[in-house]
Amino acid sequence: MKVGIDKLHFATSHLYVDMAELATARQAEPDKYLIGIGQSKMAVIPPSQDAVTLAANAAAPMLTAADIAAIDLLVVGTESGIDNSKASAIYVAKLLGLDRRVRTIEMKEACYAATAGVQLAQDHVRVHPDKKALVIGSDVARYGLNTPGEPTQGGGAVAMLISADPKVLALGTESSLLSEDVMDFWRPLYHTEALVDGKYSSNIYIDYFQDVFKNYLQTTQTSPEALTALVFHLPYTKMGLKALRSVLPLVGANQQAQWLAHFEHARQLNRQVGNLYTGSLYLSLLSQLLTDPQLQPGNQLGLFSYGSGAEGEFYTGVIQPDCQAGLDQGLPQRLARRRRVSVAEYEALFSHQLQWRADDQSVSYADDPHRFVLTGQKDEQRQYLDRQG
Ligand code: HMG
Repeated sequence: MKVGIDKLHFATSHLYVDMAELATARQAEPDKYLIGIGQSKMAVIPPSQDAVTLAANAAAPMLTAADIAAIDLLVVGTESGIDNSKASAIYVAKLLGLDRRVRTIEMKEACYAATAGVQLAQDHVRVHPDKKALVIGSDVARYGLNTPGEPTQGGGAVAMLISADPKVLALGTESSLLSEDVMDFWRPLYHTEALVDGKYSSNIYIDYFQDVFKNYLQTTQTSPEALTALVFHLPYTKMGLKALRSVLPLVGANQQAQWLAHFEHARQLNRQVGNLYTGSLYLSLLSQLLTDPQLQPGNQLGLFSYGSGAEGEFYTGVIQPDCQAGLDQGLPQRLARRRRVSVAEYEALFSHQLQWRADDQSVSYADDPHRFVLTGQKDEQRQYLDRQG
């Protein structure tokens, strides 16, 4: 039985900052951000969006009434949680109108958590093939203004419907995993921005990729040439390029050229958004499938998921004949329609998030065009609005 990704959709903010302009404001060469980091635009997440609203905005447009009736598992992977106890998935299930008889959980392991959700979901559907699972990776990536990590911020959510006989990608059942205690990136409960040892984290990422990739090839007796393209978690798009370059010596010149050409499509949409932590690998998968004319049904893709702290996993999927029907076809146009904000406006939005305080607060949301918005906090409870509700 084939099990895998049946539908794949993305949501981010309607605002972005231009990376050349940000570089100039930070006294950096624009090419450092555009080429050295590999980012052209960075999503600016307004105070009216959080991990819950981004998740709901990603999933709602793709779900039919039949999907909603079949979903009995919702996993939200996030490291931008809004509550230390209650799962963001509970709020998301309510906004989406899911049935009460659904298992709703939030998962955390930095950027890796959505992959844990995908693997849990595929196991669940293999046991209950008449059911569907919804897995969403949703985050706002924040390092702080004027920090080295600033050009690698961003945010958004990727929603994946996991089912039997999937339209998009049939997932393999084998994978290679690695998990160890590494202090490369973390966020203590009292911090709103991540702490990171940037260079160290980039080195650990490559070590993990090499380890799980080679281990996967060895334990599954897979030839690297069997993998048409490699898709990466992209905290910034140069990171994936560095990892890819590190394994090019394993294949011949033709395969090297193909992998490098496919990678340019895999990073096309991520270049315009920035890091979105848990959803980043799956935005890259969406980018690969939407923008790469050389890919065909039957091609096998290798997927590398990395979460700091650290955990890595390499697994594979095969493109299905009806792939394009399950994808968020309007995404490139939506990204192109976003409004560019100045660096000053981005800084103001960055600093005006809902405060981690007990008092009632309201959030300006009139300019936010999304269906689901955060309107504020009342009696220590976040207030969400469904404009179609
Ligand atoms: P930095 O110190 O500002 O940058 O930090 P740099 O000096 O290393 O320069 C970056 C690149 O630009 C270099 O290229 C320069 O040569 C190049 P590289 O040597 O790396 O190939 N450069 C130029 N290129 C062209 N023209 C120029 C120019 N000038 C310089 N004029 C860093 C960069 C990424 C470390 C920083 O932004 C950071 O700390 N980011 C956050 C951490 C991060 O993203 N780590 C990635 C791996 S960990 C991960 O993926 C997990 C994560 O997603 C979190 C999670 O799991 O939850 C982060």
